[in-house]
Amino acid sequence: MQKVNNDVYDTYGDRWYEADDDPVALLRAESKTKTPWIVSQLKQYGYLTKETKVLDVGCGAGFLSNALAKQGVQVTGVDLSEESLKVAHKYDETKTVHYQSADAYKLPFEDSSFDVLTAMDFLEHVEHPDQIIIEFSRVLKPGGVFIFHTFNRNFLAYIVIIKFVEWLVKNTPKHLHVLRLFIKPKELSHYCELSGMKVKAMTGIKPVFSTIPIRHLFSGIVPKSLRFELTKSLLLSYMGIAQKNRS
Ligand SMILES: C[S@@+](CC[C@H](N)C(=O)[O-])C[C@H]1O[C@@H](n2cnc3c(N)ncnc32)[C@H](O)[C@@H]1O
Repeated sequence: MQKVNNDVYDTYGDRWYEADDDPVALLRAESKTKTPWIVSQLKQYGYLTKETKVLDVGCGAGFLSNALAKQGVQVTGVDLSEESLKVAHKYDETKTVHYQSADAYKLPFEDSSFDVLTAMDFLEHVEHPDQIIIEFSRVLKPGGVFIFHTFNRNFLAYIVIIKFVEWLVKNTPKHLHVLRLFIKPKELSHYCELSGMKVKAMTGIKPVFSTIPIRHLFSGIVPKSLRFELTKSLLLSYMGIAQKNRS
């Protein structure tokens, strides 16, 4: 059985923020579209205040944690990769984010500690997302929100998210993603329901290929012009928000 490669995150260092010949450049480009959607959801649910406590699980080098800290909320970022956490702290311009090493299966926080829990490009990196979502719900306050991003599981996702990236981006490590860990939106909704949460909205997110000059497609480099946009289709990559039941 193919295992997903989670060791690679310890090796990036500043490449998290600088490399353009590696799939981390795709994560950076995608986060420019994910973050405004997440901020708009926080605003809608009344969680864009200085009292709001956010836990960003599998925060990596802090693309989302650091962006949310700039919005004035209180952010804790956790990850298994201590090397990534060092990078996250270095790039935190606010120096307010609390970065801490932790395993998502057993979060070192009391029940009902957070208003918001985010997990970007994370659930497809673990073997048991259902167990982890139960743990997420435990640390969320009643009425708190869980915001996720992950990949749908189907043949097109295999070709676009796994194979295109392997073919077109130079330093793609082996088993960066494995298809069997991708999650169908219905499965994710079911896991949320089993954990006492209800999905309120989902949106697809897709790359805009027309912004990429053809000569750049086969250069192994992720062009600076690459951008992502929201789409109704959840066929490939999708985000969503679920709310924990109040009783
Ligand atoms: C694809 S990266 C996403 C990073 C970040 N959320 C982003 O969107 O830029 C997946 C992250 O999950 C972390 N991770 C994997 N398994 C984990 C676990 N059980 N507990 C905490 N973090 C984990 C990895 O170390 C890695 O930093």
